[in-house]
Amino acid sequence: MKTLNPSEIPTAELQTYMQAAIAPRPICFASTIDKAGNVNLSPFSFFNMVSTSPPVCVFSPSRRVRDNTTKHTLENLLEVPEVVINIVNYDMVQQTSLASTEYAKGENEFVKAGLTELKSELVRPPRVAESPVQFECTVREIISLGETPGAGNIVLAEIKLVHINEEILGGDGKIDQEKIDLVARLGGDWYCRVTKENLFKVAKPLTTKGIGVDRLPAHIRNSNILTGNNLGQLGNVESLPSDEEIDEMSHTNPVKDILDATIGDSHNRNQQLHLLAKQLLDNGDVNLAWKVLLAG
Ligand SMILES: Cc1cc2nc3c(=O)[nH]c(=O)nc-3n(C[C@H](O)[C@H](O)[C@H](O)COP(=O)(O)O)c2cc1C
Repeated sequence: MKTLNPSEIPTAELQTYMQAAIAPRPICFASTIDKAGNVNLSPFSFFNMVSTSPPVCVFSPSRRVRDNTTKHTLENLLEVPEVVINIVNYDMVQQTSLASTEYAKGENEFVKAGLTELKSELVRPPRVAESPVQFECTVREIISLGETPGAGNIVLAEIKLVHINEEILGGDGKIDQEKIDLVARLGGDWYCRVTKENLFKVAKPLTTKGIGVDRLPAHIRNSNILTGNNLGQLGNVESLPSDEEIDEMSHTNPVKDILDATIGDSHNRNQQLHLLAKQLLDNGDVNLAWKVLLAG
């Protein structure tokens, strides 16, 4: 393990480790105005939701590590505490990056990046028409984390109105995780795109409470075939299959074949049953996998 003490390495170096590891980060494309009404648009990946009632997001325009200057977005928010948080999808990621150019104060990044202003309903900064979801927000509080280079300024933005492009909705009226085509920021120049191929589901933990990995039989817990993910799946069941179900499984192929071929060789039997159970678990069939594992 490489171990780093933040107080012993340069901030710029620490930042590279943090940004590559605390990733992927969603992108808040923040539209703000100054008191004269000049529009600013900048991306921030130090961003997340932190509360649903009240609905609050946070993002952080930090002091530049290079020269300790502050961002126009922060200066604007101190003058006009309103912001539109526009969500960034794949189709607009290059323009979003371009908008992070350090243009002079007062220069409108909607214009520089070639994006379209859409009038907001409750706040003064405009929305980004190209963005699939736009949150009109008021600023509850800005928490400064210091005056040194790299110091963050946590903006607590309360959502007052949500606009969703209907093209990203599924048949159930909810946002379709494939259609929204999100992108996120990682370290350096890396981004990632949420595509159909890399989406997967993890069943929520049971409200009735799963048995946990500690209560798995030792031969399962210590298996050299089943992975940590597999053990997590097996631990998320409330109870084990009944003796009748296990007995029925032991008389059903391919389990029956494995049992017949491994009489007197419990190690080989476990290996083969674990391989079969692993296939079932990787396909999401936890109940069947349990029956296979206990049939031995
Ligand atoms: C995708 C992306 C994410 C960014 N995230 C942050 C961030 O979270 N905090 C920050 O201070 N700067 C971040 N930046 C850099 C700012 O966008 C950049 O400094 C910008 O010029 C600030 O504009 P402003 O001075 O007009 O507010 C990010 C840049 C990009 C492209």
